[in-house]
Amino acid sequence: MSALTPYLKTIASRRTIYALKPELPAGVSIKDIQDTIQAVIKNTPTAFNSQGNRAIILTGETHRQVWDAVAKAIDNEDGKKRPLSVRDEAYGSVIFFTDDKVTEKLQADFPAWSAAFPQFGDHSSGAAQISSWTALETLGLGAHLQHYNGYVKAALPGKIPESWSVHSQLCFGAPGAPAGEKSFAVNKVELFN
Ligand SMILES: Cc1cc2nc3c(=O)[nH]c(=O)nc-3n(C[C@H](O)[C@H](O)[C@H](O)COP(=O)(O)O)c2cc1C
Repeated sequence: MSALTPYLKTIASRRTIYALKPELPAGVSIKDIQDTIQAVIKNTPTAFNSQGNRAIILTGETHRQVWDAVAKAIDNEDGKKRPLSVRDEAYGSVIFFTDDKVTEKLQADFPAWSAAFPQFGDHSSGAAQISSWTALETLGLGAHLQHYNGYVKAALPGKIPESWSVHSQLCFGAPGAPAGEKSFAVNKVELFN
């Protein structure tokens, strides 16, 4: 058990932090963040090693433009609040995708498994998202996960391939306040001998 403890502590340290400042913690560069996300995308396992995970990082004017467009596309004041806070308070956002071309090739190559591949893509994307979230928080960043997928897709820079489906947005910056209280359910892991 002791060998697992540092890893489990790291997992437990990842939290949703909505209070962000549009800056990076001292000693962390945007290149560090890019390298971190690159390593996660590289090492996250995928079905049949198909490697369909993709990610980009928005910062600066592009980050502000995309989130401004998301807010403008939402037609109620309450709904605009989160995108506007991301625009103004986050330093950047990681956009996670899977490449539909990879899923379609798997379906063509392994027809017996065809129905499972979209779900496998979702699983692997989720793994990449949570590993990235955890890794950014080990760098001292705060982050929260959002799903403005259709709005974000419509607002992204033109050179994103049409076959890339948006899965989520991991919004990050220097933490402005600690994470809130969290309650836990006791979902006991039973042992069967
Ligand atoms: C798959 C998934 C989807 C989520 N979607 C959103 C979301 O769209 N917006 C949001 O504010 N938080 C979202 N969250 C954050 C959860 O609400 C949060 O992780 C949960 O309340 C536990 O809190 P913690 O992240 O501090 O451990 C999502 C989390 C997961 C794992």
